[in-house]
Amino acid sequence: MAEVTLLIHDLDAAVTPAGTGVLRGRAFGELRIHSPASIAVSGERIFAVGPPEEVLRDIPSGRDFESVDGRGKVALPGLVDCHTHPAFLGDRAEEFELRSSGATYEEIHASGGGIRSTVAATRDGSEEELRSSVERHLGWMLDHGTTTAEAKSGYGLDRETELKSLRAIQDARRRSPVDVHPTFLGAHTVPPEFDSAAEYVEFVIHEVLPEAASLARFADVFLERGSFEAPEARRYLEACREHGLALRLHADQFSERGAIPLAVELGARSVDHLEATGERGVRLLAKSDVAAVLLPACGLFLDLPIPPARLLADEGAILALATDFNPGSSFCESLPLVMNLACTRLGLSPERALCACTANAAHVLGVVDVGRLAPGYKADVLLLDAPDWRYVAYHLGGDRFAAKIKSGQVL
Ligand code: NIG
Ligand code: FE
Repeated sequence: MAEVTLLIHDLDAAVTPAGTGVLRGRAFGELRIHSPASIAVSGERIFAVGPPEEVLRDIPSGRDFESVDGRGKVALPGLVDCHTHPAFLGDRAEEFELRSSGATYEEIHASGGGIRSTVAATRDGSEEELRSSVERHLGWMLDHGTTTAEAKSGYGLDRETELKSLRAIQDARRRSPVDVHPTFLGAHTVPPEFDSAAEYVEFVIHEVLPEAASLARFADVFLERGSFEAPEARRYLEACREHGLALRLHADQFSERGAIPLAVELGARSVDHLEATGERGVRLLAKSDVAAVLLPACGLFLDLPIPPARLLADEGAILALATDFNPGSSFCESLPLVMNLACTRLGLSPERALCACTANAAHVLGVVDVGRLAPGYKADVLLLDAPDWRYVAYHLGGDRFAAKIKSGQVL
């Protein structure tokens, strides 16, 4: 029998997505609620979850283990943020002020600001500064209950700074309790020293990708007017796929320009944003295994139209939610806030919002052992200090965790 190292006992409830793997169609939003509950942990994995007397019965007696009093608390799986941009220096407070008086995100981008201003600040800093910036941002995420996060490069857009960003992410990954999954976003936008997107993509493929591929799991592209059109995105993604990277796309944020058909054809892992996606795109996605990742904090930050969340879910698409944490379009690291927005603005239920930030987000990252409270899963557990699990979405910006447990360690 496995040695129990931690017992979280007498919880009001332990709430988790049901089943195994991704949840879509009728299964999307299905939860398993154990109430009351205890959770036994062995090393970094969950050993048992269920009624306190049953869990106790399964534990070998006379052994010493740490215990956490769960009375008055609800346990949830650690949250999974499958779309973030934490590797940057500087800020965009100036731009935020400009937007508050009417300038749009796309206008600022077109005039050379936006992503390009963060690129300039990031190129200017040292690797050490970038590393501590990534670590600081991961710490903010953890404060809000994120225990697994994707992390993109994309504010270097030259060989040195892209590789520096990925190394900073790898380094933070070793130092932070958060599990980090790096993404090479070499095709974020065209940097000022290049005249054309096609020319820049060739540079990335030949000069940056070969080394970047060894530091990342995913590749991503911003397919949008003013950044990359479908032919350049295809060229970049196919090359990245040849280097063994799984594919993601920033798609249909402001306009539909072929991102979804391309993603389906190339077997991408996900398309993210989708504020401009029409019915045809929804139906194509619903029939495919490409996940739709919705980013409602970005939608709120930029005042974008509401993406077709309900239709996607009802048609059976794979749906996940993420923060899109970045300095320009979503300066927000809170998945509980994202869950609230999913319920208040996207028409998803709290049950669906929870599945979308745990099991389904883990699926997007290709991780099979996080996102649930079940035996064999990583012991990533949040103890919510609330009388009802739905407070995690209901309490706007008020996520109150009494404790966070990462890989079996109480933080
Ligand atoms: O997901 N859309 C492109 N990339 C980011 C924004 C990056 C930025 O504005 O710095 C996004 O919204
Ligand atoms: Fe993004």
